Amino acid sequence: MTDQPLDSHAFRRALGNFATGITIVTAQAPNGDKIGLTVNSFNSVSLDPPLVLWSLDKRSADSLSVIQSADHFAINVLAANQLDLSNHFARPQTDKFANIDYSEGPGRAPLLDACAARFHCALHETIDAGDHWILLGRVLAFDDFGRSPLLYHQGAYSLVLPHPRVEKNLAAQATLPGLEKYLENNLLYLMLQAVNAYQTSYLPKQQALGLSVSEARVLILLSVIPDAGLERLQRESSLPGSEIREAVENLHASGLLESTTAPFSLTADGALRASEYWALSEQEQHKVFDEFNDSQIQLFKKMLNRVIQKA
Ligand SMILES: Cc1cc2nc3c(=O)[nH]c(=O)nc-3n(C[C@H](O)[C@H](O)[C@H](O)COP(=O)(O)O)c2cc1C
Repeated sequence: MTDQPLDSHAFRRALGNFATGITIVTAQAPNGDKIGLTVNSFNSVSLDPPLVLWSLDKRSADSLSVIQSADHFAINVLAANQLDLSNHFARPQTDKFANIDYSEGPGRAPLLDACAARFHCALHETIDAGDHWILLGRVLAFDDFGRSPLLYHQGAYSLVLPHPRVEKNLAAQATLPGLEKYLENNLLYLMLQAVNAYQTSYLPKQQALGLSVSEARVLILLSVIPDAGLERLQRESSLPGSEIREAVENLHASGLLESTTAPFSLTADGALRASEYWALSEQEQHKVFDEFNDSQIQLFKKMLNRVIQKA
């Protein structure tokens, strides 16, 4: 801890350790002007009365005036497969709703389809808080669709996985005869356990190499697809455009990238760092799979790809 002024970049990065869901907040003014923006500052506040909050960057001044004249807004909590929607509403554009299906809720706030949940709110209070406004909403109604949510952690999109210890406890506490046997034969349970175990061992080693999650992902992608534009990088990295742009700036400032625009080329140092990340991933893969021969690995890949396509 220190009394020095905070390094805002490091502060943001530390805040990124707090995993959140992702929402799109929408509103429509009486004159038909609509706003929609990607927001991860959403949180619950009170059950009685039912209140929620989120914070709005003061640079989005138009959004504030639309919300205030609408006197309502909707919180659309995104489902795991709505990553493109999150990227779409995180980019300034003239008409964000041009190709988007939506219906209208209280105060004519746009409601998005196929979300995990939606909260229909009346504007309760606007609080001035530094470079953001805190908007409190009184929940008038809600929809609970129960879909698995999209998560955001350390600047990257993420998914919910059950914690392995919870799973193990469940198995240990099993009193029903045959439950453990059932879990042993349940392929979804085994796949989740496998990914959890792999990540638990791999991620700390990756982080120990020094770059943030987004910088590491962008660097290793650019080492194999240097011509990639923002859209391709978004698709391959599961990072929002703003994180990719920031990662590119940081990699350039650290002397790992020659430029901040495509086509990107890695500096000699950048190429060396990328090869360290590739080596780590190969080393981990080797450690886990070294007892299997090539044809078994090929079969495993084929099975995984079938699961990805079929499920
Ligand atoms: C994952 C993620 C979370 C975000 N959370 C917030 C937030 O809580 N509040 C905010 O004002 N902007 C947030 N943003 C940024 C806005 O989505 C972005 O600036 C958007 O373009 C604002 O809309 P506007 O340009 O129409 O004003 C977030 C962006 C991303 C990618």
